[in-house]
Amino acid sequence: MKVLKIADGIHMLTMNVEDILFEGIWEIVNGVTLNSYIVQGEKTAIIDGVIGWDGIPETLYKNLAEIGVEPKNIDYLIVNHMEPDHSGWISNFRKIKEDFTVICTDKAAKMVASFYGEDKIRVVKEGDTLDLGNGKVLSFHPVPNVHWPDTMYTYERNSKTLFSCDMFGTFGRMGEHYFDDELTPEEIEFFEFEGIRYYSNVMATFTPSVKKAVEKAKSLEINTIAPGHGPVYRKNPQKIIDEYSRYSRYAEGAGKNEVTILWGSMYGMTAKALDYAENILQREGVKYNKLQMPLESDSEMVATVFKSAGIIIAAPTYEYRLFPPVAAALDELGRKKIKGKAAFRFGSYGWSGGAEKELSEIIERNKMGWDFIESVEFEGAPRKEDLIKIETRVLELIKKMKEKVVE
Ligand code: FEO
Repeated sequence: MKVLKIADGIHMLTMNVEDILFEGIWEIVNGVTLNSYIVQGEKTAIIDGVIGWDGIPETLYKNLAEIGVEPKNIDYLIVNHMEPDHSGWISNFRKIKEDFTVICTDKAAKMVASFYGEDKIRVVKEGDTLDLGNGKVLSFHPVPNVHWPDTMYTYERNSKTLFSCDMFGTFGRMGEHYFDDELTPEEIEFFEFEGIRYYSNVMATFTPSVKKAVEKAKSLEINTIAPGHGPVYRKNPQKIIDEYSRYSRYAEGAGKNEVTILWGSMYGMTAKALDYAENILQREGVKYNKLQMPLESDSEMVATVFKSAGIIIAAPTYEYRLFPPVAAALDELGRKKIKGKAAFRFGSYGWSGGAEKELSEIIERNKMGWDFIESVEFEGAPRKEDLIKIETRVLELIKKMKEKVVE
């Protein structure tokens, strides 16, 4: 865990977490940071807590001591969001201190009570304030469904710091650099992909709410954005606001100028057609990513499809339906409400078809509204006429996806 100064009387405590499944689902190969913030006026508040995961309050208490904060002197625990990656240490803290107040929204209050048995709670609503003394005034701004219904921003008026919790967060461990102005070009690129991974895995389902939260952030005068995960933005907070706007458009069908191929093949017939399609993409100079299912993690699959403007599904019929690992991937994309992508499917069948029917069912059931070019299905191995059709339709896909490119 590290302690860093954000402004006079405001510090960040941050720790890297590795080798976990985030939310018990997402394999995050590059880890994630949990950030917590201390605001010191005459009274002291801690915003979110970072020790829920390792269960070692001593780590937190040692770091608090470094900045002259005695845990017993913390007056307020501000729970921007009840998910235990931010709040999991409350019970440990209660063991050493009786008289602190939890500050949170009404929706969080219910869960703080049911998860941790807390009842000394002050419920806040839009615009409520807490004066900590010495010029430190916090105001509270609910941003529901970012990512749970209970979430809020906390804003410190004097330093114009926005504590945004999950909003404006990214996956990815931090090494030596914690602020946007310290990041090397490689780290900027790293956090851009980890931001896309985080948004697509955790936030995409809530895109309409994220868009409202972007607008709410724009209504505040912000010098610094201090999120619950990832770097702090003090040089150019507008950059992460703009990136979140772009990600929300990716969830609605826009994407980078690239194709993602989601594929599987039982005995190489669909793979033969895929080789052909890849040659066309190469010939046309189109960047593409190739994900063989079920070998890719859901985290990587969702992030890569999410950021692409064009999708090729290369998958055969399997037992009257769509090749199951590809069907499962599409269902996951549907749950994440990744909509409106330009897409094209081709694939082989043997004694019967059925893949197309299930593909339509998945797209309909999840209201994905993907914009499909007519599919190409072939019995057994692809023939020359099948490959010619695939070429024509890959070219159509490239044209269609260009209309959706947002870099
Ligand atoms: Fe960082 Fe929704 O938890």
